[in-house]
Amino acid sequence: MNSLSAIKEAPEQPEQLEFTFEGYDEEPLPEKSFATAETLTLNAITSASDFTDLFEDARCISRIYGNNEENTGLYYIFHAHDAVTGRNIAVKATNPSLCQQHPQLEDCLKWESKVLQILKGKHRMQQILTPHKTIQTNIQLEGKSYIVPVSFFSSIYMDIDVRKSFFDEANDRLKTCANRLKLFCSMISAVQRLHREGFCHRDLKPSNIMGVRKDGKCTAVLIDLGLSLAAPEIEREIKLFSPDAQDLPMMYCSPELYSGFEDNLELAKSADIYALGCMLFELLDKRSFYTTLNETNGSTFWEAANNIRVGKEEFNGNENKRLALFNELLSEFAPSIIIPRISEDSIIPRYARNELHKIISSMCAFDYRKRTKESELDGIKEKLHLIVRILENEHLRELYKKRREIHRAKKLLRGYSNA
Ligand SMILES: Nc1ncnc2c1ncn2[C@@H]1O[C@H](COP(=O)(O)OP(=O)(O)OP(=O)(O)O)[C@@H](O)[C@H]1O
Ligand SMILES: [Mg+2]
Repeated sequence: MNSLSAIKEAPEQPEQLEFTFEGYDEEPLPEKSFATAETLTLNAITSASDFTDLFEDARCISRIYGNNEENTGLYYIFHAHDAVTGRNIAVKATNPSLCQQHPQLEDCLKWESKVLQILKGKHRMQQILTPHKTIQTNIQLEGKSYIVPVSFFSSIYMDIDVRKSFFDEANDRLKTCANRLKLFCSMISAVQRLHREGFCHRDLKPSNIMGVRKDGKCTAVLIDLGLSLAAPEIEREIKLFSPDAQDLPMMYCSPELYSGFEDNLELAKSADIYALGCMLFELLDKRSFYTTLNETNGSTFWEAANNIRVGKEEFNGNENKRLALFNELLSEFAPSIIIPRISEDSIIPRYARNELHKIISSMCAFDYRKRTKESELDGIKEKLHLIVRILENEHLRELYKKRREIHRAKKLLRGYSNA
């Protein structure tokens, strides 16, 4: 679908051809028309005077696509400079041509902006600068002019993309593995902070974590709180409700989330811990946790995933009864799920790998009641710091061994040349 079709008038019917046309196809390729429409949209946003009053040199750096809409960006991220301070910023904007069809896009952006305003000044959280704002943009298409609304907010730009540390071939050095574990501890601290503030993220994944550097040290920062769940007292205070988080992609999604319990704060906290566990695996292994879980368990995984679902419509809204049935089903299906192990090819020594496996198994337990609790996260960080030290020492020992070998070889060479 053309990204401007929502605002475009129906095109005139083409004339009927009377013979089979064998010449060149004059119709633009679908991808080309998407690209043209998108370029027009992006130009319209970045040249709107209400936009340029706030942001300078805006350049689109990311287009976010929905699960089904493959060719049209739902949101656009721009890198820009704040017009007043000149500061490096990121602007997240809705695709104007989709707002009418999908009002929830605007709702999620509004929610995200509100949550970020509450979290302003809090360490390890994305820092908002311009709160949610809607402006009118003028899009020129085929000689006609269309006025469409665009909503956005801006936040401080972060230049450390931690995504590069996942599924990476470079984890063949113990020092790199140690650094990845340090990054993971920082990610745990960020999630602990968010939970302490009364929110659960519900959409934790590598692309929703960025990094900032201060005094040579890197800190993980959580971004993309558009699907976060807030404690009821926060919702009451800000008079807004957490968005619907159904149909999350399965990759980092815990069994409770895809089984219809995404509105339960305690379970959503546990779901964040599950996503963290998946990411720990992926910081140390080249495979995705989800694919490996599927490969390890095959049909057992699908049988469990399909059978534990208890829909919201069941028990007429009696949440306690619904949860009781879910717990019962988990007791039946969860024990057969095997949590994948970090690859045997890993350079991490076996004893450290076993310890890491215990941590991943506990954080990714299929049954949330057996999963690492919020209160146990500090203990996990301590254990990981110990493993970091072991890996760093092992790395130094290897370096020392290599140097000794080089030294010995040099001595031998000198011996030959003197002889
Ligand atoms: N403040 C920022 N600084 C630097 N980069 C950013 C910032 N905000 C967003 N980005 C970049 O844009 C990408 C998408 O942003 P964001 O996660 O907020 O959008 P999204 O629509 O929720 O994306 P998705 O659905 O893929 O999670 C991020 O993964 C990151 O690379
Ligand atoms: Mg994101």
